[in-house]
Amino acid sequence: MESKSVGNIIQRGGTILKTARSDRFRTIEGQQIAYDNLRKHEVDALVVIGGDGTFRGAREFTENFPFPVVGLPGTIDNDLYGTDMTIGYDTALNTVVEAVDKIRDTAASHERMFFVEVMGRDAGFIALRSGIACGAEDVLIPETVTYLDEVHDKLVKYMTEKKTSSIILVAEGDDAGGAYDIRNAMAKYGEEFDMRVIVLGHIQRGGSPSAYDRYLASRLGVAAIDALLDDQRSVMCGMVHNEIVLVPFNKTIKHHKTIDQKMLDIVDVLNS
Ligand code: F6P
Repeated sequence: MESKSVGNIIQRGGTILKTARSDRFRTIEGQQIAYDNLRKHEVDALVVIGGDGTFRGAREFTENFPFPVVGLPGTIDNDLYGTDMTIGYDTALNTVVEAVDKIRDTAASHERMFFVEVMGRDAGFIALRSGIACGAEDVLIPETVTYLDEVHDKLVKYMTEKKTSSIILVAEGDDAGGAYDIRNAMAKYGEEFDMRVIVLGHIQRGGSPSAYDRYLASRLGVAAIDALLDDQRSVMCGMVHNEIVLVPFNKTIKHHKTIDQKMLDIVDVLNS
């Protein structure tokens, strides 16, 4: 690849380099092959883009082989410590909001209750922020315990007192289960709500990047090269309060980004 290889791709989703989880890279022999290939092709340095797993792999590689590596946070889940936003998160949020707005039309017209499952195997950042952005009646995420009785009472109250439709955003990794499980649990209470389930799935991981994601990725890409030229190694370039920060791989792997309880409160406040 040369500079011109990345011309005219800023508007594209996915990756032209392709991506895969590699079991072989977990072994020293696999890493040796990677190292030899990098040397053979005269690659000067690596900028790895991904989440926790990517940085673990990169850290191990740099511990075993003398190769310059820096990282960029890239996951739709936004569950990386050391950066406010990860590349891909904003695009995924916009996709969810657009889909839920459309679902809301049916929900309101037919007076239905929709359980919409969004991605987030271990994290509820997508569910929480998009939930606020589309005025969801409830948001269920893995970081907090879901009490089904509470969810039920809340929905009954909304549906009988003030609303004729409801949208509940469920992160796929919620402790009470996915959207189908929650719907089934709610059905057991016996109310006659007209309930439907939608699993948004991989549409959240594709599509043309949002303006914010393009801006973020461009700034972080420049920061990654600056960091390498500055002899920085094994650090992730993140952005906090619109400023570039360098976070050692060790730190971003060890710490967990936490959900802000105030954001959960906002969901309830906006529905009260
Ligand atoms: O990596 C994050 C993620 O988007 C999760 O939220 C989701 O569960 C997973 O990827 C899906 O991965 P796959 O495409 O391998 O099923």
